[in-house]
Amino acid sequence: MTLTSSRLQTVRPSATVAMTDRALQLRAQGRHIISFTAGEPDFDTPAHIVDAAAQAMRRGQTRYTPVVGLAALREAVAATSTEVRRVPVTADNVIISTGAKQVLYNFFMALLNPGDEVLIPAPYWVSYPDQVRLAGGTPIIVPTSPDRDWVPHTDDLDRALTPQTRVLVLNSPANPTGAVYPRDALADIAQWASRHNLWVVSDEIYRELVYGDAAFHSPLTLAPPHHRHRILVVDGLSKSHAMTGFRLGFGIAHPDLIAAMSVIQGQSTSCATSISQAAALAALQGPNDFLPDWRNAYTRRRDQLISGLRQLPGVRCTLPAGAFYALPNISAAAARLGADATDIDLAEHLLETAGVATVPGTPFGAPGHLRFSYAVSEDTIAQGLARMADVLP
Ligand SMILES: Cc1ncc(COP(=O)(O)O)c(C=O)c1O
Repeated sequence: MTLTSSRLQTVRPSATVAMTDRALQLRAQGRHIISFTAGEPDFDTPAHIVDAAAQAMRRGQTRYTPVVGLAALREAVAATSTEVRRVPVTADNVIISTGAKQVLYNFFMALLNPGDEVLIPAPYWVSYPDQVRLAGGTPIIVPTSPDRDWVPHTDDLDRALTPQTRVLVLNSPANPTGAVYPRDALADIAQWASRHNLWVVSDEIYRELVYGDAAFHSPLTLAPPHHRHRILVVDGLSKSHAMTGFRLGFGIAHPDLIAAMSVIQGQSTSCATSISQAAALAALQGPNDFLPDWRNAYTRRRDQLISGLRQLPGVRCTLPAGAFYALPNISAAAARLGADATDIDLAEHLLETAGVATVPGTPFGAPGHLRFSYAVSEDTIAQGLARMADVLP
């Protein structure tokens, strides 16, 4: 059967699925697989958040909500954003969606026309280019370098700019690099976007997860005030509060953009689930005292993973400052498998011979790299490193 809308032709199925499927297959055969593939925390959702969801159901909060979300939650998101980004916003600036992912999807669908170009610094989260294509736009990939800590610079952006450029996507802390853009670099980028009158999408889903001296900054804070109406902040609790399965995210933007996005949302999912919205409100109200403990755990795991990776033959790795991913350069290790061997070949080799599952960098725009998630226990990290040391050529 051929299922072929022309739209479907523009999107690539996730290249990471094959690796995950193979890992599951091996597990089903009884192999013990150490997996570094998770894009989500391994911690349980805090009990007070789960309780709030259960209570919402018991009191009958099981019906449609307004398309843009419950008023109380929109107000709480606005208050949190005002505190974090120090730019006053109100509930009118907020849309509640089914995950940060749907906020992004709504935006591209609401804004893009055929031929519109969207600048996406690489390495990037896999869904950005495909969502842009689905919406009829053209992703333009802007390379960044580990020598500059994976932070895009305005000279890189200048080279990618054309009269068709409409949007710049930013993601700090970043998936898959773990980069956290320093304040000055981000301010330069925000000025640049303002000079060229571009929309800026700032995906801040990992903003709570920064380590050591690194600090989170938002372009909403740093942009010239006259350009703020062209910024969409994407935020949520999926990663910070271990709520990935609740499927809830927030968009913060000018009310006109919120209205446009709500038209798309109203004709697709109608609204985020009432139950998840109750849980999110509880999460924003707190307590959030678990966050420093989780941050400390991620910091320990990061340090353990990075120092272990750096001792492996043919592996180099920058120190990620945020999120929970490491993106080592493994091109020298892959080359020892064969002259043409890629990150995908090395990922397969690690899975088949060592039972270690990783994600190849190619689908993230990072050939020659592997992505490791360190949202796993220190014991898992130790075992994974030992197994890799045994099989790396
Ligand atoms: C950079 C980035 N943005 C957005 C998302 C999606 O978040 P959500 O689960 O809230 O849709 C992810 C999830 O992996 C991500 O890594």
